[in-house]
Amino acid sequence: MPSSPTRTASASSPRTHAVFLALVAAVVALLLHSATLTAAAAATRGGSHPGVESVGQLLQQSPTVADVEVQPWSAAINASASGLVVSQVSFVIKSTQRSFQGFLGTVVNPAFFKYALPSVGCGHRVNTSVTAKQNNCLFATNAGFFDVNTGACIGNIVIDGKTVEAAVTARVNFGLQGQRSFITGYLDQSDVQSGKYNLTQLLTGAGWLVRDGKSYLDTSRYTESLDSNFVTEKAPRTSIGTFANGTMAIFVVDGEEDIGTGVDLYEFTEILLDLGLTNAINLDGGGSSAVFYNNTIIDRPTCNDTPVICERAVTSITCVLP
Ligand SMILES: *[C@@H]1O[C@H](CO)[C@@H](O)[C@H](O)[C@H]1NC(C)=O
Ligand SMILES: *[C@@H]1O[C@H](CO)[C@@H](O)[C@H](O)[C@H]1NC(C)=O
Ligand SMILES: *[C@@H]1O[C@H](CO)[C@@H](O)[C@H](O)[C@H]1NC(C)=O
Ligand SMILES: *[C@@H]1O[C@H](CO)[C@@H](O)[C@H](O)[C@H]1NC(C)=O
Ligand SMILES: *[C@@H]1O[C@H](CO)[C@@H](O)[C@H](O)[C@H]1NC(C)=O
Repeated sequence: MPSSPTRTASASSPRTHAVFLALVAAVVALLLHSATLTAAAAATRGGSHPGVESVGQLLQQSPTVADVEVQPWSAAINASASGLVVSQVSFVIKSTQRSFQGFLGTVVNPAFFKYALPSVGCGHRVNTSVTAKQNNCLFATNAGFFDVNTGACIGNIVIDGKTVEAAVTARVNFGLQGQRSFITGYLDQSDVQSGKYNLTQLLTGAGWLVRDGKSYLDTSRYTESLDSNFVTEKAPRTSIGTFANGTMAIFVVDGEEDIGTGVDLYEFTEILLDLGLTNAINLDGGGSSAVFYNNTIIDRPTCNDTPVICERAVTSITCVLP
C-alpha cells in the first residue's frame, strides 16, 4: 500500500518538529484520502485479526482505593472557542528507529470536549464518522472498548454529567470534572456512581501510558492485567490525555495489524512523552482507530486489519464540538 506522504525528521529534537503544522499537512491528507480509499477498495484480503481490540479479561476487580491524577484546565481558556488544532505528526521513534504517522488534536477549552455514543446507545456498533455527525462533532476519534459480538460498551461511561455505565473494572479512566479539572486514573464503581468526583465526562481505556510526565506502562500493564500481545503488537492506536499547561490531546497512530505496522504500547508511550503529554491513557485501537475532522475521515483506518481502508463500527467516540 502506498502511504500518505509524511515528513520524517531525525530523532534529535522531537519536540520542535513533532507538532509541525498541521493545516498544510492535514489538507494534503484530506486531498489524498479519497484516492487511497479507492485504491484500497480493490485490495481486499479478507479475514479478521484478533489483537489490539480484543477485550479478553477486561473486567477485573475495581481498585479498593481511588488512585488518580487531577490537573486543572488551562488558564488561557477562551470561553467561546475550543482552541482545537489538528496536526499530522510523524517522526522516527528513538528507541526502535521505526517511523509512524499520526494525527493529534489539541483542545484548549475542554468544555468543548465530550465522549459520545451512537443515538441508539451502547449495545449497537456504528461508524465513528456516523456518530460524530449525529453529535455535531468537528473532530472525533474512536474511543472505548466494546464487545465485538454484542456491541456492549466496556467500562465506565459518563457523558455530560450523566452516568451511562459504572463498571467493575481495574482499567484506567480519563475524564473531566465539573470544577474545571482533568481526572486520570483508577476509580471504584461507587466512586463513579456517587457523584463525589463531579465527573462530567469519563471513559475507561486499557493501559495508563503516561503518568505525571513519565512512562507508567510497566506498572499499569500488570495492574490492569493487559495481555502481553495487546501491549507488544504493532498496530494502530488511539489515546487521550493532557499537557502540563492544561491543554488536552487526542492522538491516533495509523497502521495495519496484519502486517505489523503502527506501534506497540511502548513505542506509543515514547511518542506521547516526546509530544510532551503529562498524563495519557490508551483507548481502543487496531482496526477501530479512526480520525474524523470537518465531516471526513482524515486518517487511514483498517477496519478488517487488512490493507483495505475502511471504518469499523464502534461504540463510544471522543468528540470536540465546533
Ligand atoms: C474567542 O473565540 C471567539 C470565537 O472563535 C473569537 O471570536 C474571539 O476573538 C476569541 N477571543 C480572544 C480573546 O481570543
Ligand atoms: C465538586 O464540585 C464542588 C462544587 O464545585 C466542589 O466544592 C467540590 O470540592 C468538588 N469535589 C471534588 C472531589 O473536587
Ligand atoms: C500547551 O502545551 C503544548 C505542548 O507543549 C503546546 O503544544 C501548546 O501550544 C500549549 N498550549 C497552550 C494554550 O499554552
Ligand atoms: C471544513 O471544510 C469546509 C468545506 O471544505 C471549509 O470551508 C472549512 O473551512 C473547513 N473547516 C475547518 C475547520 O477546517
Ligand atoms: C461504515 O463504514 C463502512 C466501511 O468503511 C462502510 O462500508 C459503511 O458504508 C459505513 N456505514 C455508514 C452508515 O456510513
